[in-house]
Amino acid sequence: MRLIVREDPKAVAYYTANYVRLRINEFRPTHRRPFVLGLPTGSTPVEVYWHLVDFYKRGELSFRNVVTFSMDEYVGLPKAHPECYCSFMHRHLYDHINLRPENINMLDGNADDLTAECQRYEDRIREVGGIELFLGGIGPDGHIAFNEPGSSLESATRVKTLAYETVLANARFFGGDVDRVPKLALTVGVGTVRAAREVLLIITGAHKAVALAKCIEEGVNHMWTLSVVQLHPSAMIVCDEDATLELHVKTVRYFKSIEQVQEQLIGRQNIGLKGSISRLHHGSTGTPGAQTSDSQVLTDSDMSSAHSDDGMSTTSVTPTSPADLPADGSGEDCAEPNNGHSPAATDGTPF
Ligand code: PGA
Repeated sequence: MRLIVREDPKAVAYYTANYVRLRINEFRPTHRRPFVLGLPTGSTPVEVYWHLVDFYKRGELSFRNVVTFSMDEYVGLPKAHPECYCSFMHRHLYDHINLRPENINMLDGNADDLTAECQRYEDRIREVGGIELFLGGIGPDGHIAFNEPGSSLESATRVKTLAYETVLANARFFGGDVDRVPKLALTVGVGTVRAAREVLLIITGAHKAVALAKCIEEGVNHMWTLSVVQLHPSAMIVCDEDATLELHVKTVRYFKSIEQVQEQLIGRQNIGLKGSISRLHHGSTGTPGAQTSDSQVLTDSDMSSAHSDDGMSTTSVTPTSPADLPADGSGEDCAEPNNGHSPAATDGTPF
């Protein structure tokens, strides 16, 4: 597991969005081989989506051959309700990018047969070849999607009763009125998230610090369902400084040192996106100062070291303009003019 610590929520959002951009572009999705992306709702990912829309508008990212799966949905909330996760995803992301409507997958919390709806979702995930990257957030109780404390770590998509703590936390979206918050939801299971080939979690704020500490410093435990990331072969948590408040200093230093060693001794160009060390050039033998000087370190827009699914490096690409996007047409309608605003956080850059 990798833990990436950035200064604040803005830097976390930019790092995360940029990582998603690099992963999709490196994958070079086609109609027959789409990039399958799992996506969360909640307040944390909103700025990530803002950056993804911005990348799309700048012609740096196309969603033409991306298939999405939302993580969860309230039961019984009308589709047009602003807090329905279907409305949320359209408002913050889907209405602003070139995702094909048939590639959008969401759970229907108003289905007549909720069990059948959950099975349909699992079947659909299987049909498209599984999820390549699952982006997720957590609740203060360590839940991932709506997998509340006590959820089976093998669980699949199902109906879930929300914990009182979650209902309280989400009351802010319903005018502070706990009674208006739905008490049931459909959610992908912990097992569904585990089955994704990569899991990327964003955690910000002091109110999630205990959950982060429980999930990464203690054992795998169904009372803190995020802790299952310890068992995942390709998991990354991106958090801000506030979220590290309950971690041991030693833990934070260790994870920060990994990034430092990779940058200073090995060189970013030798590291796969998922953190695999692909090669050691001469001069990058692990001797301090032997490799990349600061001026040689690639910037986020330069850095995109491609690697195959097994994490081995292949070539380097720099997908920063429409011309650099795959020639299969995946970038064909993504060159809309920029909407005039620039990214809110390009300092404290990812990578
Ligand atoms: P939040 O919700 O991003 O609004 O904190 C996350 C969650 O409950 O999973």
